[in-house]
Amino acid sequence: MKVAIFSTKPYDRTFLTAANDAALNRHEFLFLEPRLSRDTAPLARGFMAVCAFVNDMLDRPVLEILAAGGTKLVALRCAGFNNVDLAAAHELGITVARVPGYSPEAVAEHTVALILSLNRNVHRAYARVREGNFALDGLLGFDLKGRTVGIVGTGSIGICVARIMSGFGCRVLGFDPRQDTEFIRLGGRYVDLDELWRQSDIVTLHCPLNPQTRHLIDAAAIRAMKTGVMIINTGRGALVETRALIRGLKSGKVGYVGLDVYEEESDLFFENLSEQIIQDDIFARLLTFPNVLITGHQAFFTQDALTAIAETTIENISQFELDGRPAHPLSVELLA
Ligand code: NAI
Repeated sequence: MKVAIFSTKPYDRTFLTAANDAALNRHEFLFLEPRLSRDTAPLARGFMAVCAFVNDMLDRPVLEILAAGGTKLVALRCAGFNNVDLAAAHELGITVARVPGYSPEAVAEHTVALILSLNRNVHRAYARVREGNFALDGLLGFDLKGRTVGIVGTGSIGICVARIMSGFGCRVLGFDPRQDTEFIRLGGRYVDLDELWRQSDIVTLHCPLNPQTRHLIDAAAIRAMKTGVMIINTGRGALVETRALIRGLKSGKVGYVGLDVYEEESDLFFENLSEQIIQDDIFARLLTFPNVLITGHQAFFTQDALTAIAETTIENISQFELDGRPAHPLSVELLA
């Protein structure tokens, strides 16, 4: 099948080509560097399948252009699908597939990397020691043992975080409309959101972004949290209202922030902008806080995860070619 692959980076080319060769499918790939948008969607004309990533735009107008060009399958090479208008895809006869749970460990371990780095100020110590500054003031941390971690969304990634943090001797609380017995078996306790905000020393977000979870952490949520709370977001940027977060940091109510995702990341992340002036003043303000650690949507970025993503993407495309149904379809019911 002919596949137009948007937002291609060198590593996408490497892993997707290897998976395609290994499966002996020989799908025909066109690697495109631009992000998928209304302007770039016509590049996929004549391609039965389009492969897209987290910041590719798949709203109704883009899907209309793809459908008019003959596209029948959108194969997302990611787990989240907040960037797709599923109802429009359904109406236009486009099947959407994704890669669910490719390596929950990759994201969970990065989440824990942010927690540990922020707590022990590893990001600041690294810069100090290189400058010959071995003073310890400002680097004081706390023992994780006995602290309470609140996990919002106890799906595949949330469960992994729960497992790791209970290994540190933390008390683990969870909020999820769908309760998981594995979470309880690990010693986790389900509570309502308000109690999770009130009791947690560390709050970490692992739920999908949808209309119910948009700005889940806003000014009211921050008010309900402990003073000095650590907030970690490796889910999706818009789960957190960034302006409220900045106000919380300025007042000292929020003690630490670790972000792998950002509300307006599509204009920033995955590109080398080091020669340019950052135009996003809110993001620039976030970068000024010593107790904020930001990574550019790299939680998924391990060899194991990229291998799994490429293999499942090829599986989705091959199954669709075979019987019109990808291995991991997204149905319109998920909108409910
Ligand atoms: P999953 O589908 O296994 O788990 C999500 C959980 O969130 C489910 O248990 C669901 O019931 C729960 N949930 C749904 N609505 C909720 C709500 N209103 N409040 C609390 N919980 C709610 O998904 P998985 O694989 O664990 O991924 C979670 C999210 O992590 C994805 O949606 C994606 O946005 C993000 N992600 C980020 C990556 C990164 O590189 N930073 C990589 C992969 C995923």
